[in-house]
This record gives sequence, structure tokens and C-alpha cells, in this order.
Amino acid sequence: MTAIRPFQADELVAAHAALELAFGSDPNAADRDMDLTLLRPEDTLGAWDGDTVIATAGYYDLPLTVPGGVVDVAGVTWVSVAPTHRRQGIVTQLMQRQLADLHDAGRPVAALWASEGAIYQRFGYGPGSWQLNVEVPAGAAFTRPVDVSGLRVVQPTEQALRPVLDREVGGHPGWWARSSEWWAYRLFDPEHRRGGSTTLRAVVDGDRGYALYRTKNEWGPAGPNGHVVVVEVLASDPESEARLWRFLLDQDLMRQVRGWGQPVDSPLLQLLSEPRSAQARLSDALWVRLVDVPGALVRRTYPTEVEVVLEVTDRHCPWNSGRWRLATGAGGATCTATTDPADLSLDVRDLGAAYLGGTTLATRAAAGWVVESSPGALAATSVAFGWPGRAPHCPMVF
Ligand SMILES: CC(C)(COP(=O)(O)OP(=O)(O)OC[C@H]1O[C@@H](n2cnc3c(N)ncnc32)[C@H](O)[C@@H]1OP(=O)(O)O)[C@@H](O)C(=O)NCCC(=O)NCCS
Repeated sequence: MTAIRPFQADELVAAHAALELAFGSDPNAADRDMDLTLLRPEDTLGAWDGDTVIATAGYYDLPLTVPGGVVDVAGVTWVSVAPTHRRQGIVTQLMQRQLADLHDAGRPVAALWASEGAIYQRFGYGPGSWQLNVEVPAGAAFTRPVDVSGLRVVQPTEQALRPVLDREVGGHPGWWARSSEWWAYRLFDPEHRRGGSTTLRAVVDGDRGYALYRTKNEWGPAGPNGHVVVVEVLASDPESEARLWRFLLDQDLMRQVRGWGQPVDSPLLQLLSEPRSAQARLSDALWVRLVDVPGALVRRTYPTEVEVVLEVTDRHCPWNSGRWRLATGAGGATCTATTDPADLSLDVRDLGAAYLGGTTLATRAAAGWVVESSPGALAATSVAFGWPGRAPHCPMVF
């Protein structure tokens, strides 16, 4: 294997073909061109065997909403190793190099969607957000009447949807303000990604909210048997959220409404008369990795005051290992190296899991990952890492 280095611009076509091979797909020029509007060659890494690309990795620039702020997160993507070169430690080398590069570039946090959860925990990623996959019977009743008058179905465009997101993004950890390139990525709708459903549609509630969705028209022996596929719902007020869901649930000829990747605190479940009818299944979503522990911890805010010494282990980023005094308060947080005894011992994975407020440190402790040495430290720190606003949710796989 050659040394790992970034791809040059004219090598990205071969890199994408290698990625598709590793994922078991055919190369697709439209998919590749879309990815390349967002991925800079200097943010990629590759490895070769002779002239053949055998490994790829990269990251997108994500101004991610975190509790109380925005962090320049590296949205890790394109991670692949050729089927002929697996289990030889190549992705381990790629991940190590990428973490070192991110640290050198001053990027405190990385985040990714894992094709399989088992891959990234060893590299220090923790489950930072969760999601619900729902399958609601069409027409499912709410506990209160909702007036859907005034909604409009439109062609989804950046112009129509962006004002809502720009206004709301700061209240949604796990979302990010979308550039025009990211809107194009969100609305990218080639036929091979539709699974036989319609093109993407938008229902808009003035400038209060929107839902992106498709419908699949099917017929069975008992008559209409279609379903609605919900892609993204964003509303600025509870009534608008309820109106959008009511609309999605009440489409003629549809028997079911399928929403993959809904927030764990989706208002839908609070609106349904029979919440269990949504058949909500929990799944991991965004995996988060603190590349620079103190740099990351001081960039979010904390709802309560705590002063705690954290003993952190980090197999891949030795600069993070050691004891850190974290002090949180109304004026922000400080995090400094210390030789004082630890109140809590944990791995960098646990801090990644807790960073967006989506997995509590108490939960990680219940699984045996976080160990308390000063009574009361776990409860106080777990509450401080929580977030009183909306649960973290990542609306888009990248
Ligand atoms: C996942 C993938 C990148 C791993 O690459 P690799 O070079 O074979 O990984 P490594 O040899 O460095 O393995 C590192 C460790 O992870 C483990 N591992 C690798 N892939 C794994 C998987 N899919 N599930 C569980 N463990 C895995 C290895 O067993 C090894 O464990 P060890 O250190 O205890 O021996 C590669 O199999 C691949 O390209 N898969 C298809 C595409 C994909 O899923 N990419 C990830 C996108 S999010």
C-alpha cells in the first residue's frame, strides 16, 4: 500500500468509483458530482495499491448546532476500503491520520453516520444522537382537532424552504445552516434514490413550516395500498407542526405514513391519540467524536453549574488523555489540564455521546463506561451535559 495522502482534484472520479465498489453499488456520475460540490480535495484521504485506489475518506464542513452554539464540525464521509484489502488495518490507519489532520487544522469535533455502529466506537466515536423510525397508520387520530386550511403543496426549492430553516436551525442541535450546496444536496432527487415513489414534494405552511415527502401509489386486492414517505419536517410553532403532520396523515389512497429518522422528541408522538400506533423504533444516528477535548467542551454551553475533574482515556488522540477540570456556569465553560484526583473516569467516546445532550453520562455509567469516584459527581455532571431544548437530531445522512 502507498502512503496515505489527500486525493488531487483529478483523482476524485477514481476515488468515487472505489467508494461505490466498497459500498456494493455501481458508479453513478450524478451522485459523484453532487458529493463533489461539497467535498474539497484537500479534505480527503486516499490509499493506493499500485495505480488502484484501495481506500478513501473525507469530511464535509458542517457548522453544526450544538447546545447553546455552533461548532465547525468535520462531517466524516466517504470511508471505504476495497473488498480485496479489508481487515489489514487500513481504515485504522486512515482514521488515525484523519484525526491527526483534524487536530492540526483546529477542528475540535468530528461526526458521522455509521454504515455499521461497530466500526467507529474503536476510533472514539460515541452515539451522539438517536432517531425514531415510525410507521403510522394513515388517518391516525390526534387528541385534538387540527385545522389544515392554508397549506400548499409546492415544488421543493431552496428559496421556498430556506427561510424556515435559517430561522429555526439554532434551536435544533444536530442541524446546520445550509449553504446553497447543502440545499441542493437535500433536494437532490435522482430516480434511483426514489424506490419507486414520486419525486420529492414540499407542503408549506406559509413561512411557519414545511414538510418534504413523497408518495408511493400502490394497489392491492383490497384496494388502495399506498404510503407516504416523510423526509423532513420543520416547523417554527407547535400548531404548524401539528398541521403538517395532519396533512401527511390524511392523504387519500395512502394506508401508512413512514418517517425514517424522526427526532426522538417528535411532537407527532405527543399528538397521536394512540402513540404506540406509530410503531416507533429507536436507532443510532449521528456518532460524535471529540478531536480536542477542551476545545470542544468550551464551545457548547451547559444548563447548570458544575466543577468536575474528568479522567479521559483516548487510544487514538493522546493529546486528549489525562485529567481535565471542567467548570461550567452562566458565563460559559473552562476546561484545563490538572493533576488533581478524578471525580469521573471515562473514555472520549462517552464525551462524544454526551456532547449534543442526546445520551446522558448517567446512561453511559449504567452501561459501565463512566466510573464515579466522588459521590454526586455523576449526577451533577450528567445534568450539566443535558439540554433543556429539543433533543439532538440529524435530519440528513451524509
Ligand atoms: C468498514 C471498513 C471501512 C473497514 O475497513 P478495514 O480496513 O477492513 O478495517 P480494519 O482492518 O482497519 O479494522 C479495524 C478493526 O475494525 C474491525 N472492523 C472493521 N470493519 C468492521 C465491521 N464492518 N464491523 C465490525 N468490526 C469491523 C476489524 O475487525 C478490526 O478489529 P481489530 O482492531 O479488533 O482487529 C470496510 O470494511 C469497508 O469499506 N466496508 C464497506 C463500506 C463501509 O461500510 N464503510 C463505512 C462507511 S460509514
